[in-house]
Amino acid sequence: MKKKSIFKSCLIAFPLIIFTLYSHSFEADSSSEVLTFPENFKWCVATAAHQIEGGNENNDWWEWEHSVPSKIKNGENSGLAIDHWNKVAEDTKLLKDLGVKQYRFSIEWSRIEPKEGVFNLEAIHHYKDELKELQKYGIAPMVTLHHFTSPLWFAKMGGWSHPDSPQKFLQFVKFVNQQLGASVDQWITFNEPMVMIAAGYINGVFPPGIKDWKSVIGPIRNILIAHSLSYKELHRNKNAQVGIAHHLRIMHPYNKLNPIEWYLANKLSKAFNWTLLNALQTGTISLSVPTKIEYEEYLPQLKDTQDFIGVNYYSRDLVKFTPKGKDIITVVPNDKSPKSDLNWEIYPEGLYDILKSVSEKFENLPVFITENGIADKSDSRRADFLKQHLLQIHHALEEGINVLGYCHWTLIDNFEWAEGRGPRFGLYDVDYKTLKRTPRKSARYYQEIIERNGILVESKNNL
Ligand code: BGC
Repeated sequence: MKKKSIFKSCLIAFPLIIFTLYSHSFEADSSSEVLTFPENFKWCVATAAHQIEGGNENNDWWEWEHSVPSKIKNGENSGLAIDHWNKVAEDTKLLKDLGVKQYRFSIEWSRIEPKEGVFNLEAIHHYKDELKELQKYGIAPMVTLHHFTSPLWFAKMGGWSHPDSPQKFLQFVKFVNQQLGASVDQWITFNEPMVMIAAGYINGVFPPGIKDWKSVIGPIRNILIAHSLSYKELHRNKNAQVGIAHHLRIMHPYNKLNPIEWYLANKLSKAFNWTLLNALQTGTISLSVPTKIEYEEYLPQLKDTQDFIGVNYYSRDLVKFTPKGKDIITVVPNDKSPKSDLNWEIYPEGLYDILKSVSEKFENLPVFITENGIADKSDSRRADFLKQHLLQIHHALEEGINVLGYCHWTLIDNFEWAEGRGPRFGLYDVDYKTLKRTPRKSARYYQEIIERNGILVESKNNL
């Protein structure tokens, strides 16, 4: 064979070999078996408006991103984000390619109501069109009404600390429900209220940038009241299913032999994970963190205002007692475990533990995994991360825990709040110069899981 044609055949053969190796890695053979999920299990991905849309200049985050000195890593801002606002059709096609049955996304309040009481019809039509695109592919929407961002007018008024905040939010929810209610059954009123409160009012790394434990009471009670009012409003649609996406974390003592660290880890976990969930079940807000805060209040209207529990699960924290440090409680990641690019411990068994606790505490409510994902730019850990977390969900399902679906965070690389554009959580990579979307290898892995409605594992007979 001539040199030139050898070169030519190599050019053809090389991609073929790569393709075969690559597709083979996820294929079934006699040594493997499939762990299947319930027939109606909802495979899903999640996104949030501000992180992908671009140009959300009327909200508190936009202002926060533009403060001097910068509050965002490397002085970045959301800017055009990934221009999803103008690429809805293209991005919905990515959902279709993945094969998801459900898509969780958020509606940007500051676009719908840029000035108090002034509702923007063009913006609501944009979301109506998005819902039509999803319908075209048979993808059910799960709509988040508040994912960290609030309109600037609302923030200026005092945001979630203001006693009128629940009523202001309700006006927005009413408008959205009138306009979109007929096409949406599943709603998330708030995304991760506890993260928003801890980051915005204790650590000061989200707007409004407050660092005072005592300041959390207003936002906690106002967000819960806003949720309960919205719950009732959304239930005007008799098919509505309404919940909150709760960020639930595992908190363990740094030193298992240290009883003080056990005590502190339990206290922190109770405060962070269960304060809101308990209040929504019993009506009592009860918050107690040693040396920080003690609070109790009964608000009967909060009771029984969730149809399902949204669980966002990412990682585990170790809690240290540091009497000589700046603070007596210090939270650190586990040094010995594998981590994500954000240095978050990869701890899949925690997801099972969370599901177990949720199902024991709130036995009558089904669970939806509304977020779970990893910052992994090289995409070397994402497929296994997915597999290990889905195995934990499968285990929970086998035990009779009612898990309705799983949303991977996230469809596509995006603006990661205070961390800027660095962390890459997407199943699709984005080239920020061209905004080109390219599936990562893990996108194909997820696609195959959805296609099979199950995870391929080594057969037990071979172990
Ligand atoms: C939030 C997302 C965020 C993700 C990764 C969740 O806390 O809901 O908006 O991008 O975690 O940090």
